[in-house]
Amino acid sequence: MATATARLAPDAKGLRRAAELLAGGACVAFPTETVYGLGAAADDPDAVAAIYAAKDRPARNPLIVHVADAAAAAALTRWTELAGRLAERFWPGPLTLVLPRLPTAPLAPAVSAGQSSVAVRVPANPVAQALLRAVGRPLAAPSANPSGRVSPTSADHVLDGLDGRIAAVLDGGATSVGLESTILDLCDGPRVLRHGGVTVEALAEVLGAQPLAPPRDRRGALTAPGLLPSHYAPRAALRLDAETADPGEVLLGFGPVAAAANLSPQGDLEEAARNLFALLRALDGQGVARIAVSPIPETGLGLAINDRLRRAAAPRP
Ligand code: TXA
Ligand code: MG
Repeated sequence: MATATARLAPDAKGLRRAAELLAGGACVAFPTETVYGLGAAADDPDAVAAIYAAKDRPARNPLIVHVADAAAAAALTRWTELAGRLAERFWPGPLTLVLPRLPTAPLAPAVSAGQSSVAVRVPANPVAQALLRAVGRPLAAPSANPSGRVSPTSADHVLDGLDGRIAAVLDGGATSVGLESTILDLCDGPRVLRHGGVTVEALAEVLGAQPLAPPRDRRGALTAPGLLPSHYAPRAALRLDAETADPGEVLLGFGPVAAAANLSPQGDLEEAARNLFALLRALDGQGVARIAVSPIPETGLGLAINDRLRRAAAPRP
């Protein structure tokens, strides 16, 4: 029988326990500013295998390696001048950089899932920072949810999906950004593979040009690893760009509309990003079967919000 997952306070004792568990090869969930990550020592093949097992994650979907600072990221990758400028501007923070992986990098091969690149990120959340420094090695960490489900923005969300399947969760409260990091591929492009917490407008300021859009095949499907059309799926069915709810639907609003739940009554995209996953879970928890969602503008964080909504609304396999 699986043992229950420990909930650890983000104090010195909790951090010490989390670091011990990680050093022993266990999986521990921890808060980042985006969503909770399911961490394991990135240089330990068995620990990395345990992440894939706990999440039921397809073996072809690579993991983001979390490190304490840009120097640690540069030690794992073929670092570039542009990577340095992006790190200077956005790290610590919700940007993931995909770079060629150094053959000598002490990382379990499964971290890259067959790619010659590796994704690296320096999280800003102080609990994540303290944990990385206590462990003293890179942590591989996907979002701490069963594969294909809504990402967790609180320790309760982590336990909803993974209780009994992981050793512990460090409880750092609700996350501040609320959706995942932006993934920028510097091997090709620079190209955005996934919209997220850093906007393309902000990236363009550093790049001096718009980044390329996520790669798609001829039928328009996203082709980056892990970007399955159906993802972030609540149990409820979603209908997007809805001005009002039809009979049998509950309206998830944005802006000043009469709605059962509202992402941001003020129409603020940062607030909407922070609330998105928690509200989808709450509506699921109420047994809502059909959610209609107000239109969200396609600018700033709206690109990431709309990406998650479209994938939540996509037909399920
Ligand atoms: O905000 C985040 O990015 C959160 C927190 C925990 O850091 N993590 C996260 O991880 O969202 P995950 O595994 O749920 O999503 C990571 C995405 C996947 O779509 C994966 O395919 C992609 O990053 N990825 C990882 N390594 C890659 C690589 N070498 N090349 C291309 N895509 C990569
Ligand atoms: Mg995920």
